[in-house]
Amino acid sequence: MNSQASAKASATPESVTQDKILMAWGNISTTSAIHKSLGQSFDVSWANHGKNALATLESEPITTAILDARLPSVDGYTIARQIKAMNESSPPQVLLVVQGDARRAIAARDAGEIDAFLVEPFTDGAFLSAFWEMRDRLAERRWDSLNKLQASLLKVTKRNIKRMVDQSSEGGGIDYGLVRECSAVAVEAARSNDLQGVLEELKNHHSYTFVHSLSVASLMAIFGAHIGLGNADVEMLAQAGLVHDLGKAMVCLDILDKPAKLNDEEWENMRRHPRASGEILRATRGTPPEVLFAAERHHEKLDGSGYPFGLSGAEIDDVGRISAICDVYSALIEKRAYKAPMEPKQAAEILTGMAGHHLDPDLVPRFLELVWDGKF
Ligand SMILES: [Fe+2]
Ligand SMILES: [Fe+2]
Repeated sequence: MNSQASAKASATPESVTQDKILMAWGNISTTSAIHKSLGQSFDVSWANHGKNALATLESEPITTAILDARLPSVDGYTIARQIKAMNESSPPQVLLVVQGDARRAIAARDAGEIDAFLVEPFTDGAFLSAFWEMRDRLAERRWDSLNKLQASLLKVTKRNIKRMVDQSSEGGGIDYGLVRECSAVAVEAARSNDLQGVLEELKNHHSYTFVHSLSVASLMAIFGAHIGLGNADVEMLAQAGLVHDLGKAMVCLDILDKPAKLNDEEWENMRRHPRASGEILRATRGTPPEVLFAAERHHEKLDGSGYPFGLSGAEIDDVGRISAICDVYSALIEKRAYKAPMEPKQAAEILTGMAGHHLDPDLVPRFLELVWDGKF
């Protein structure tokens, strides 16, 4: 971290949101995962002194503060109390870093003076998990202001995806009723044009599996309805989107959230997930065959260079082709630990370049009609 009392983190303007956060903790190297991840997502103000932290809070619209309990001149606990008193109706969130005994931090959290805390020492990964969980709780509070269908889809899917991942992690199948419960709401939301709002809201959430699964499910349902499929097929597509990456539950979270390119071994691990998704769904009672194929084949390419089976041309069915388009587009427009979200226009250009050798050349233009229409 810089040695000045308070300075802005360097970050490219296009990768920074309007959201401002205050970082008043520790010596963080510019190459660390924390520095990269926060710098990519926020406008970060750094402070290494309590008085400077307070000055920043008074002069800038901070939404989240990360405070060292032992900050010089004014300690983290005192600053946290002042933060919460500044704006009682909508105070910034506070993550406190404490040393040694956690009892005071627990009392502060129970009193509402801080939102979360971490006891040193911890890894970059543990810090980022605690930070994003805290941010996600704030995002989820906003769901109640959405319409009933959107709020219901977000809440039910968040709960059910967690259950599915937990069940998958135990090595068997899942309760397919959890998938059907989500897809029934998704179809209703597709019919009432409410899925675009859900996709928009997902941009504020960081839980990778939840965001990506619901995003692909929503894109598949919207696309299915756009090309004239009936309710049963649209529902099946939504189910396929929800479970296509369940095999990633077998991939270590450190790989999924790695803020850099994967090395060969990590990439090999990641490439196992379509087979793993297939194994989970084959062990699940009631999985429709189309949903199973979408999970196993969403990384296949028309020219045979995809994985895991190297299928080509007619060997890849329509559901596999639709899921591949929606999966690639979703991955491009989502924020990831290693990249900022891409603009729809740029993502559309990439999809166009993939049509023919990777993606279905007839379906890609139909999908792009929705992008040009501003649907997502
Ligand atoms: Fe995948
Ligand atoms: Fe995916």
